Amino acid sequence: METNWNDFVNFYDWEFEFICKEQSKDIYFWLKMANLYKDEILEFGCGTGRISLILAKHNFKITAVDSAEKFIHKLIQKNNHKNLTPLVGDMTTFQSEKRFNLIMFPYSTFQYLLTKDQQIKCLLNAKSLLTENGRIILDISPHIAKGDSLTESIKLYSKWNSEMECQVSMYTSYVISDNIQYWEDDYIITDKNSKESYFTHKIALKNTELQEFKDLCSECKLTIEDIYGSFDLKNVSPDSSNILYIIKK
Ligand SMILES: C[S@@+](CC[C@H](N)C(=O)[O-])C[C@H]1O[C@@H](n2cnc3c(N)ncnc32)[C@H](O)[C@@H]1O
Repeated sequence: METNWNDFVNFYDWEFEFICKEQSKDIYFWLKMANLYKDEILEFGCGTGRISLILAKHNFKITAVDSAEKFIHKLIQKNNHKNLTPLVGDMTTFQSEKRFNLIMFPYSTFQYLLTKDQQIKCLLNAKSLLTENGRIILDISPHIAKGDSLTESIKLYSKWNSEMECQVSMYTSYVISDNIQYWEDDYIITDKNSKESYFTHKIALKNTELQEFKDLCSECKLTIEDIYGSFDLKNVSPDSSNILYIIKK
């Protein structure tokens, strides 16, 4: 399925602010990891720079890669920081002359890869970009593709977007099939002259269980050094909303 991230560029930061309050605490975790492993850092799936920009402002040198060129343009527009190298690229194929001490996959980014072949290609690619003592760190959501499909759309919110001067109503539905969750988020946008426009944001993420992830790492000859169940480094529990894998060569 083609994910239309480019079309979503004007909504991402705005929507993240109010629907991803828990996820936004990940910044403390990434700052801690950056302090531990230091420059240079590579972020895959950087979006509009929510995390990269903060790391750059804290004096870390960071290469920020995303496959959606409009997200990279937005990041540059927000702040073309001297410590930041924003690039359009795919996490399965991106190459660089640099080698990185920390390669980050925040906020379920790795789960946009829907097949085992893509996942292996991506981990091997990251391994090829890693320094000898570097770490690959992934934030995986254990809640993806669990439970039943939601085939009838429900309204998630209706809210004023002051930057775009419009009222945005968002309806969501999803289908779960073969360990993948396929979302269709419908946006109804009403401008200040009451003119309506519509947009559908489609995304698909794959569930990746602990044993499956261990198998992927062993196939790529990577070692899982630590696994945490929260951004403040607690153990994994049934309540964990994020599983954080620390991986080395
Ligand atoms: C949920 S956003 C996360 C953005 C940012 N890391 C954050 O935490 O706010 C996921 C991002 O991953 C990017 N992405 C998806 N598949 C990708 C791929 N194969 N290679 C690089 N980026 C990808 C999307 O374009 C999107 O910007």
